[in-house]
Amino acid sequence: LPPPPPGPLSFSGTKLVDDPAHPWRPLRNGDLRGPCPGLNTLASHGYLPRDGVASPAQFITAVQEGFNMDNPTARVATYLTHLVDGNLVTDLLSIGAKTRRTGPDPPPPAIVGGMNNHGTFEGDASLSRGDAFDGDNHNFNQTLWDQLVDYSNQYGGGFYNLTVAGELRWQRTQQSIATNPEFDFRGLRHFTVVGQASFPAGLFTDGRKTGADKHQLDLVSGLSFFKHMRFPAGFFRASEPTGGVGSDVIFGAHPVLPGRNVGGVNNYVVDTSLGGFGDFCKFYTEFVNITIKGLYPNPTGVLRRNLNLNLGFVYDALAPRLGANCPQVFPYGTN
Ligand code: HEM
Ligand code: MG
Repeated sequence: LPPPPPGPLSFSGTKLVDDPAHPWRPLRNGDLRGPCPGLNTLASHGYLPRDGVASPAQFITAVQEGFNMDNPTARVATYLTHLVDGNLVTDLLSIGAKTRRTGPDPPPPAIVGGMNNHGTFEGDASLSRGDAFDGDNHNFNQTLWDQLVDYSNQYGGGFYNLTVAGELRWQRTQQSIATNPEFDFRGLRHFTVVGQASFPAGLFTDGRKTGADKHQLDLVSGLSFFKHMRFPAGFFRASEPTGGVGSDVIFGAHPVLPGRNVGGVNNYVVDTSLGGFGDFCKFYTEFVNITIKGLYPNPTGVLRRNLNLNLGFVYDALAPRLGANCPQVFPYGTN
């Protein structure tokens, strides 16, 4: 039985996390890494299993301990990802490529593709990774990093911060509209891009920074996380439990409605049918009824039981953002 989600940290202040118990180590043959620089770093320091395969409870524990990500954000990110990319029977999820290490697959159309799988949790217009359409959606991309540096110099005085995030998010969106005929910015992706643009400011910044320095990420540290999957030497985690700090600022800088390119590049058509940032209830409801039901049309036995458990974990984690008029949906019944 998948265990219930771990609770918040008992000590939730800043502390040294680049500590002797968690040394950085280079990749061994077969170790998996993927599109998330936060999880890559945690695996390379042993907060997650170094091979890159872990259970949802391990992800929640690791992101809280290693970065001080707040408990609701950790639960939302983890269970949303596990439901689309993980093996619900074995309770294992890869931070990178699909792997036999997550166990035997349930029947198609289930994918169990790990976090590299495009179009489930991973999506277009990432800051440091290319679009799947261009051939690589998970490795560090130097050209995109150079652009992040340019934007940090232009809008952040040499630091990545929320102002930079707002401008760079807009730029990456425009680039994908102009170059990716399959650009898809609907539903889940419309919501995750905003949080993921804020994480470098809120979670990669050393927790000892205060006042005007807080949430200003220097680019040497940034490259350490994004490319080398490594804490800057002597790194301290965030000073309080932190999630998508400043998401409203980032979204508000250049609000873009959910949508996708239809029939080719430069034809972005608004499509709010799957919800998005600012319409969490629709996003949640369609995620369950369309996305999950699409992957798992007729589950039985342990698979069905674990789907229901994980769907419950997602609803509980999202509940504070959903409001009072967004009931849980039960595509597989309630027992
Ligand atoms: C992006 C998963 C926690 C920082 C991503 C992506 C995935 C992912 C699948 C790729 C999306 C894409 O760009 O297409 C998760 C899961 C987490 C988690 C399941 C579990 C709680 C964290 C933490 C941090 C973080 C704790 C920071 C400390 C980022 C950043 C990106 C990202 C900065 C954007 C990368 C880019 O746009 O190039 N995450 N993540 N994530 N994640 Fe995580
Ligand atoms: Mg991506």
